[in-house]
Amino acid sequence: MSDTRKRGAILISGRGSNMVSLLQAAQHESFPVTFDLVVSDKIEAPGLSHASGVGIRTHALRSCRDGRAAWEGELHAVLGEADIDLICLAGFMRVLSADFVDRWSEQILNIHPSLLPDFPGLDAQAQALDAGVSEAGCTVHVVTAQMDAGPVLGQAVVPVQASDSVDALSARILTEEHRLYPAMVAQYAQTFWATKDAANAG
Ligand code: GAR
Repeated sequence: MSDTRKRGAILISGRGSNMVSLLQAAQHESFPVTFDLVVSDKIEAPGLSHASGVGIRTHALRSCRDGRAAWEGELHAVLGEADIDLICLAGFMRVLSADFVDRWSEQILNIHPSLLPDFPGLDAQAQALDAGVSEAGCTVHVVTAQMDAGPVLGQAVVPVQASDSVDALSARILTEEHRLYPAMVAQYAQTFWATKDAANAG
């Protein structure tokens, strides 16, 4: 039987623990996405060697010295060559241009370590501690041209403890990220393509 699952790419910049949770989820045949490509904007990203070690095709983008258009052109080409349907940003720390997001409209998801719309951008966990909130968490959302502001697919909440350091809070949130991201990817892929396929058939 042919594999009808959608083809996913994971974009990382570093450690890649969310990437690992997605790769593990996709080992189950019932998961609606296969991950066929991991791309990093940093050649030294530990996640990149992990991915190649488990047999996933990897690509390190060249530096963006040639300008963002060239850099995004390379990314677009690599994704196109691999026939990718869905892009999952997993600790990918570069902002994609409105033009790029438009070309992959509704096909890019992101995980962010805060309860958006609170604390977008860098160092979300430190922002939460500085703000003195009693609850923090993570959000999976569809990527739009405005950073960390696209439609929310799901969130997970964790308590903030008085003694929390940034590392302690980040670790508590990360545990939830690893559970939430694969669940939201599966749910999104199932509903998004079912709707699209139905529209195409009609
Ligand atoms: C994760 O906490 C992820 O939510 C965050 O970077 C970390 C990457 O960890 N992403 C962002 O802050 C994006 N704005 P990982 O490389 O182990 O998945």
